[in-house]
Amino acid sequence: PREWLVLGIESSCDDTGAAVVRGDGTVLGEVLASQAGVHEGWGGVVPKLAQAAHAAAIDRTVDEALRISGVSPSDLSAVAVTVGPGLSLCLEVGVKKAVALAREHQLLLVRAHHMECHAMVTWLPTQPPPRVDLPVGGATAAAPKPAACEAPQAAAATPSSSAALDQKALAISQGIPTASTTLSPDGVPPFPFLTLLVSGGHNMLVLSSGLGRHSILGSTLDDSIGEAFDKTARLLGLQKVPGGPELEKLARDGDEHRHSLPAPLSRTRDEGLRASCDFSFSGLKSAVRMLIDTHLPAEKLAELNEEQKHAELAHIAASFQRVAVEHLAMRTARAIEWARAIEPDLSCVVVAGGVAANLRVRSELARVASDAGLAMVCPPLRLCTDNGVMVAWTGMQRLRLGLGERPLRLDAEADVVA
Ligand code: KG4
Ligand code: ZN
Repeated sequence: PREWLVLGIESSCDDTGAAVVRGDGTVLGEVLASQAGVHEGWGGVVPKLAQAAHAAAIDRTVDEALRISGVSPSDLSAVAVTVGPGLSLCLEVGVKKAVALAREHQLLLVRAHHMECHAMVTWLPTQPPPRVDLPVGGATAAAPKPAACEAPQAAAATPSSSAALDQKALAISQGIPTASTTLSPDGVPPFPFLTLLVSGGHNMLVLSSGLGRHSILGSTLDDSIGEAFDKTARLLGLQKVPGGPELEKLARDGDEHRHSLPAPLSRTRDEGLRASCDFSFSGLKSAVRMLIDTHLPAEKLAELNEEQKHAELAHIAASFQRVAVEHLAMRTARAIEWARAIEPDLSCVVVAGGVAANLRVRSELARVASDAGLAMVCPPLRLCTDNGVMVAWTGMQRLRLGLGERPLRLDAEADVVA
């Protein structure tokens, strides 16, 4: 029903997200406390630090999402929360908050699977309003307070940087249909569809035949593409965490054909369709390391000025990105064939997860889909990375199927996280 209101809580990795969504798919308000900066210098997300930042941010994130939505907790139909997969220390923070709210206000609790959320948010039937960004936890009290904290309305009026990025992606990837205008005007997912989920934690091809009915056609044998981007970014001397977007930026200044790097799994014999839809990125990352060692050793780097250094690193970044994305494209082309053998009426190819924010990934996968006579659909760029909207919206769908539960027992936390 239209009047249903679901609060979604996400805390599986390094973003604390909360959003309130109405039954018709309208996002009433969304808040995100990103941990960008917290993990810098550590080379990746540190679970303990992430947990502390979630714990410091969770109450404010949820309170603010409810406040800007004009909703009090007792108005809610349910609280949806990511129960996995993710860092267990971090998941725990969101789950505890959700259980506490559900108990206090007699609400239903809906478990959400992180990967289903990434796929389902594609079918959100409306454009969400600008998100309110909170500074990380309480730890950054000294950092300049964004206006959004005091006056979300004011923040809503000025385009945020993510909105600017959305605009840019829109311009570059013109011709890519958005789910809400073409395939799913009412937000009902056009099952069956194939999803390429590409994030920091996961790299898989999933055939979705219905809510909760997903078959994994391929996954990674080692690293995810997000990890490969992040680790390669570090090899290239990029300090920001996550490194993926930084690498993409650097690659824009490079020649992607300057270096040849080995295509992943090209020397493994494919044993039927099953094996051939899997991914591998660790070899590619090692090849980049070797390329840097031979092509850009420290003594050579020392001879280059800043501009030359930037150009050399950009060529390597661009060459890495080309090979990594070609690998995704080739596997996805095969998975389309396989998916059609199971579900001849495949409706489209969804590309979701944090790495779907990469414009090279988008354009290459759009080509693969169109070669197969299918549309490629991506969630709006801003909803590609972890957020509360995807949890609230998936929770709404599950609630419709009667999958809400009452958190009656006091030891429910342990059960829910499992
Ligand atoms: O979905 P997500 O926010 O969190 C996980 O569930 O992992 O994905 C985060 C991953 C990180 O590895 C990040 O580097 C990568 O997505 N990522 C990108 C880009 N934006 C985010 N990788 C390449 N290019 C991008 N533009
Ligand atoms: Zn994610």
